[in-house]
Amino acid sequence: MHTPNISKEDIINAFQFRHATKEFDPTKKLSDDEINFILETAHLSPSSFGFEPWHFVVVQDQELRELIKPVAWGAPLKLDTASHFVLGLSMKAPMTKWDSEYIMHMMKEVKSLSDERIEGYLKFYREFQERDFNLDTDKKLFDWASKQTYIALGNMMTAAALTGIDSCPIEGFHEEKVEELLREKFGIDTDKYGLSYMVAFGHRKADPPFAKSRRDISDIVTWK
Ligand SMILES: Cc1cc2nc3c(=O)[nH]c(=O)nc-3n(C[C@H](O)[C@H](O)[C@H](O)COP(=O)(O)O)c2cc1C
Repeated sequence: MHTPNISKEDIINAFQFRHATKEFDPTKKLSDDEINFILETAHLSPSSFGFEPWHFVVVQDQELRELIKPVAWGAPLKLDTASHFVLGLSMKAPMTKWDSEYIMHMMKEVKSLSDERIEGYLKFYREFQERDFNLDTDKKLFDWASKQTYIALGNMMTAAALTGIDSCPIEGFHEEKVEELLREKFGIDTDKYGLSYMVAFGHRKADPPFAKSRRDISDIVTWK
């Protein structure tokens, strides 16, 4: 590992280059190396307590892509043209509640914590959920996991842009209908996982028709 040294100019250029790509050039596919690089930036993303409350499904099967179209109004053109199409799933309450089997697995097997540290962690984690963040419903717990899965989304899209790859984040879907589809056709346990977003990757068919529009930076940043 070495200290990164990418110029600010290159980074800002990548942020300008990134746009929500509506249509991809279907003839331009990402290599395995490129998509694995993008997924690695999700893998290395930060999460609360380091519990990684996410899962990513890469949908390359065209028949499965077709099934998504009727339940995702924001996705059809991307499903037809994107090189790679990813579902960003977040964990639900049975996985992320402080006393779940998954949290114990993370502490024991992934982080190799001692029993003593696990005990301290569990107390802290319980207080965080019950007292500090008031995560007292399944919906709140899912949204809390989802917030973290969006960090991975931002990182994947930025990493893609930095390497000249286009992307489009997609929330244009019917939550309940998509969940039914994920359960019945994708073999996903929807008691444990819900869909936060979809994201398409590939290369743009054409340059974006509009210049980027943003509020003035002084409207979004306050200095005290
Ligand atoms: C969480 C999220 C959900 C979005 N959902 C969709 C979508 O369903 N379909 C779509 O074409 N664009 C979608 N977008 C793209 C936004 O419309 C786009 O990012 C925004 O207009 C700013 O434009 P830019 O990304 O090109 O700079 C979404 C963006 C975000 C961050």
